[in-house]
Amino acid sequence: MRRGSVAALVVIGLIAGGIAAAVALLIPWLPPDASRQAGRTDFEFWFVVTICIVIFAIVSAVMIYSVWRFRAAPDDTSDGPPIHGHTGLEIAWTVIPTILVTAIGITSAIVLSRNGAVASNVMRINVTAQQFAWTFNYPEANNLSSSTLMLPKNREVELYMQSKDVIHSFFVPQFRLTQDIVPGITTKLVITPDKDGTYPVICHELCGLGHATMRTTAVVMEPAAFDKWLKSQSKAIGSPNPSVAGLTVFTDNGCAACHTLTAAKAKGTVGPDLDKLKQYAAQAHQPLQSFITTSIVNPNAYIQPGYPRNVMPQTFGKSLTKQQLDALVTYLVNSAK
Ligand code: CUA
Repeated sequence: MRRGSVAALVVIGLIAGGIAAAVALLIPWLPPDASRQAGRTDFEFWFVVTICIVIFAIVSAVMIYSVWRFRAAPDDTSDGPPIHGHTGLEIAWTVIPTILVTAIGITSAIVLSRNGAVASNVMRINVTAQQFAWTFNYPEANNLSSSTLMLPKNREVELYMQSKDVIHSFFVPQFRLTQDIVPGITTKLVITPDKDGTYPVICHELCGLGHATMRTTAVVMEPAAFDKWLKSQSKAIGSPNPSVAGLTVFTDNGCAACHTLTAAKAKGTVGPDLDKLKQYAAQAHQPLQSFITTSIVNPNAYIQPGYPRNVMPQTFGKSLTKQQLDALVTYLVNSAK
């Protein structure tokens, strides 16, 4: 190849690559990022974009140069010379893309696993999606319920997401994270917000007529402000009156669906009748309070005759806070009198 041809190819490549890079960098395609995960996602995004710009520059240079250099004269109707491939070229265009795709695969896997890693002090938030609304529950705060996603800055949170009807998808562009919410399963998403602000929470999956309206906001605040918010919201739930607090835990955790308890106006019949707790505790030869605590935390420890094993969820020991558990036990002890 003549030296002039190489120079022409390089110049065209630099111009094409420069234009592509300018389009990529000068237009603010992405909103500002607001989570620790966003930095990793953006790294992967720009890694792929950079590869694409280089390939675009090379392909543009070869294409534009060929169109210009090998164009046929208007009266030239002859066939082009027959070409039988080029082994070196074919190896190159197989090996280079293989390396690039493998590199993208490896870096993506690292980003995904780092973004999904859960810290030991992670805060759990339960997310319920339904046509066409979001509900956020804070198990650490008596299952406090909110339609806005309130988040403390720099604390890792893990969303446990469930759908009541169809497939929805949780998406906050500034966090660079999205996750489908599929009926029947719980999907999870880890977020560590690192900038104060208010960001849109968008449903990212066509879920029905109101899909476009299925939006709320995520508010990231300083930890002190977050604690203050939790306290103000929890006042009613964490009421010093144990019967108010205990009844709230009883109701919020769906106990009434399976149990009868006159004090709570509950009429469920799947599980044991909680009006008879004293009688059951006597049958189990256990003091009332520890009998109730064990039955909530480890329901298979004693099965009241006539009721099935493994029906009562065995997760309350984990999902209830100590404060909630105490409130519930006190409430049940008092109701049993
Ligand atoms: Cu929910 Cu779209």
